[in-house]
Amino acid sequence: MSVVALIGAQWGDEGKGHLVDLLASKARLVVRYGGGNNAGHTVVNHLGTFKLHLIPSGIFDPSTVNVIGSGVVISPEGLLQELDDLKSRGINTSKLFISERAHVIMPYHIMFDRFQEDARGDDKIGTTGRGIGPAYADKMNRSGIRMADLLHEETLLNRLRSVLEEKNRLLTKLYGAKPLSLHDTYLRYLDFGHKLADHITDTHPIIMRALEKDMPILLEGAQGCLLDVDYGTYPYVTSSPPGAAGACQGAGIGPTRVDSVIGVYKAYTTRVGQGPFPTELADGPDADALRQIGKPWAEVGTTTGRLRRVGWFDAVMARYAAQVNGIDTLAITKLDVLDELANIKICVGYKLHDATLEYPPATTAVLDQVEPVYEEMPGWMSPTSDVRRFQDLPEAAQAYVARICQLVGARLGIISVGPDREQTIIASEVF
Ligand code: IMP
Repeated sequence: MSVVALIGAQWGDEGKGHLVDLLASKARLVVRYGGGNNAGHTVVNHLGTFKLHLIPSGIFDPSTVNVIGSGVVISPEGLLQELDDLKSRGINTSKLFISERAHVIMPYHIMFDRFQEDARGDDKIGTTGRGIGPAYADKMNRSGIRMADLLHEETLLNRLRSVLEEKNRLLTKLYGAKPLSLHDTYLRYLDFGHKLADHITDTHPIIMRALEKDMPILLEGAQGCLLDVDYGTYPYVTSSPPGAAGACQGAGIGPTRVDSVIGVYKAYTTRVGQGPFPTELADGPDADALRQIGKPWAEVGTTTGRLRRVGWFDAVMARYAAQVNGIDTLAITKLDVLDELANIKICVGYKLHDATLEYPPATTAVLDQVEPVYEEMPGWMSPTSDVRRFQDLPEAAQAYVARICQLVGARLGIISVGPDREQTIIASEVF
């Protein structure tokens, strides 16, 4: 395998962090292809525990080249903080390259994100407040500022002058906020450009060279397929395509070059922010068991610290995500979280009035009405965190994993049974 896309296949937070760290250690090039610092990847390895938001997880291996691709929206401030943090902990960041084509999250994007959420009242999306939606909207509207612009004084000033005029009208007239100063914003972002100049480049030749040499390349996903702006639970989605098509687009690698798409699924389901969640559990012992409060896998957002909503594995959504993204391999994470449950449910269908649906409906209004149809499986009631081979898992755990693979329609690749890089079961080699 040369090019592997690793994508979140639920509503994000599937535990991708430690899988990308594991696979990144085997890849020669890691490309983060989409999203922004709305993402939070927790990586636990021999160097410590790290929380990454923008920097690819290949950064811990000094020989791996890491690229922040064109499809990412970048908070320069957040990125500099992450870089400083890593450097202060002795991590070599010299092989990090940032696409000149990637868009910049500007202060007005963050302000609009928050004002728009406030204006939605009870219909909030529950965004991370990082300015992601407004930044992608400007990119599509052709009024974005790109990383390359931060390196060219005149271009930056001209772009800012034309963009800020409109943004300030909106800020003052629509939201009653103070306008942003052209002079201060210009100087601040020029300074960010200076500080990041060694990393900003045209990343296309780097990626092409790696492809020509058949190097193992990992396309690192953020968020999840059910948050996809086209195929997710719109409008309760993020503003980018986090799936396999987004991986190609955001990295600048054509679909014919991708050898495998690994879908990362938690062994159950979680969601942060608003939006439909058919298998969500009301508070109770099962929900508490899945939340893991106070434990290393606690269901608390890495970026926002919000408590995640929890529920049973939803095979209808999972299969749909696999279909839309061509997922051929499954990575099932956090299996150990289910260790103490006597019975485990899987949603195998949706009932809507008298019909059973094979696919999730396209609108949230209908999705809100579906009743999950559950299949119940016995739990294994024994610890799995130290298991390293599939055949050593308790039989009931093997049966649960096999049933998920069957329902989703893809082969098993990896299972994780704890947050550490070593706590993984490799069922089929990836690179
Ligand atoms: P935004 O991406 O900040 O605009 O947020 C839109 C929706 O996507 C909200 O429901 C967020 O909670 C969700 N979201 C964005 N990034 C992540 C992530 O990395 N993990 C989980 N949910 C996310």
